[in-house]
Amino acid sequence: MTANTIELNRQMNSYHPDQPVWVFGYGSLIYKVDFPFIERRAASIEGYARRFWQGSHDHRGTPEAPGRVVTLVEEPGARCGGMAYLIAAEVFEHLDYREKNGYLRVGVELEFAGEDRQSGVVYIAREDNGAFLGAAPEPEIARHIARSRGPSGCNRDYLMHLAASLRRLGYEDEHVFRLERYLLDDQGLDDKSLDALID
Ligand code: SIN
Repeated sequence: MTANTIELNRQMNSYHPDQPVWVFGYGSLIYKVDFPFIERRAASIEGYARRFWQGSHDHRGTPEAPGRVVTLVEEPGARCGGMAYLIAAEVFEHLDYREKNGYLRVGVELEFAGEDRQSGVVYIAREDNGAFLGAAPEPEIARHIARSRGPSGCNRDYLMHLAASLRRLGYEDEHVFRLERYLLDDQGLDDKSLDALID
């Protein structure tokens, strides 16, 4: 499958223009909110684990030296915490462009705190997309992140912002927090330097 998913996602536009849609963000969509939304609520989805297994050619790396960003992999019993946004259907045009490097819209059930549920959409980069990098030992993933940079900035900042946002929301994510720890240990940073880094 081609890495550029804009056209494939556009074909999924079956929404009525007046009908808002819940979109679940689990990576940069949690902390970089460059789109209008009607309402925002912390939420989680079941059966998926967040993994730094997707290559980034357009945000945190380049085609020659892709960075590593998160995608979701199916894992029975797992739960992934993030942020859900209620958006107007027209906002998909912006999100499809932003998530074009391999991410496809997938229907999911969102669970909000308080346990009410809503159906929604999440962008997932499946392993058959051209930018998928897959699993690697976590210290290696952390080193890869430490040396990568792209048009949206340092790959390191993507990881740091994500870890800080998850902590703020009260979500545990051992994969993300271990990568953060490896990165900081490698750079000889302590928690105070971390606060300065993530502004
Ligand atoms: C997301 O945040 O939901 C998708 C992955 C990303 O853009 O970092």
